[in-house]
Amino acid sequence: MESIKTELLNARNPDEAAAAVPRAAALLREGKLVAFPTETVYGLGANATNPIAVARIFAAKGRPTFDPLIVHIADRSELPRVLSSSALSDPRVSALADAFWPGPLTIVAPASTAIPELVRAGLPSVGVRLPAHETARALIRAAGNPIAAPSANLFGQLSPTSAAHVAEQLSGRIDAIVAAEPSKVGVESTVVSLLPGEPARLLRPGGVPRELVERALAPFGPLLGPAAPSPSDAALPAPGMTASHYAPRARVRIIDPASPDLRNLSRVALLAPDDATLARLDQLAAGLTVVARAALSEQLDPVRAASQLFELLHQLDEALRVDGDAHDTILTTPYPEPGLGAAIADRLRRASAER
Ligand code: TXA
Ligand code: MG
Repeated sequence: MESIKTELLNARNPDEAAAAVPRAAALLREGKLVAFPTETVYGLGANATNPIAVARIFAAKGRPTFDPLIVHIADRSELPRVLSSSALSDPRVSALADAFWPGPLTIVAPASTAIPELVRAGLPSVGVRLPAHETARALIRAAGNPIAAPSANLFGQLSPTSAAHVAEQLSGRIDAIVAAEPSKVGVESTVVSLLPGEPARLLRPGGVPRELVERALAPFGPLLGPAAPSPSDAALPAPGMTASHYAPRARVRIIDPASPDLRNLSRVALLAPDDATLARLDQLAAGLTVVARAALSEQLDPVRAASQLFELLHQLDEALRVDGDAHDTILTTPYPEPGLGAAIADRLRRASAER
């Protein structure tokens, strides 16, 4: 891919944002690619109603298949631009939007005809989300269109929770980066599908705990897991649903501290759910070369852990790198699954999957 100049647009305070947002919005209106902060992770945005602009997202990320993208809106009043009229009258859509927007929840529902096929990967439904991030919302408003945005990382690599992560992976491939503070939630949105005549399904655990989604949807029925893929779906893996998504360059191994598998390890970095488990990992790794160590939070705290997860994986990956090359293994333990813990456990499992 030909290298392009990536503008860095600082938006770390209201004055900077006041200058950065109109510039970034102008680029989006021209069909260009702009990375921007959200409360979950940084997104790589393009005008969702412009198929050429959307196609450039796939090229910049190196996504091997055209997977469906999440469309971002700034205000509930923009929902009719994204969803079909039948979706708008589904009471489950309103229940979830009332309960969790603005916030880290994506609703998958039948799409309006204004949303190009490429955004939906040919599906009749589209994912839509109203982020809880003022700069993101100001940018979407100023751009004047819904914004399609996957996480702003190269395909299969770690999701970015800071502008520095985005620059590392996408400088020279995108037109601008709006640089604000690190993302507070730290894991991607929870994705729930609400298809006509079907029960609600949790497609991806994320920033809104499953238990809360279940409660909001209780009047309408149960929340099921993802449908088992049929053989004909094989050509259309949902992004973030492929086993090895969210991978650092180093290998990741999840061990059971009670019966740890430490075979074929020499250099390791340790990542634990809390300080107590980190101390246990230290003991287990006594015979190995430990180059770095971190706990996701001091005491078990899934909210804090989620906000640290990708940043710490980036740091440990860097610590393991020698002469530009990644070596050996990030060693971790299973993250406890209630609440937001399910999203953390999911990302760690994917990071550890064979590539
Ligand atoms: O927090 C987030 O959701 C971030 C920020 C930037 O908003 N975005 C993000 O996008 O994570 P991406 O492209 O990395 O993940 C898209 C997710 C996938 O899990 C995909 O399966 C689901 O959204 N998705 C989107 N549209 C869908 C559709 N029509 N049907 C089924 N799943 C869909
Ligand atoms: Mg992603």
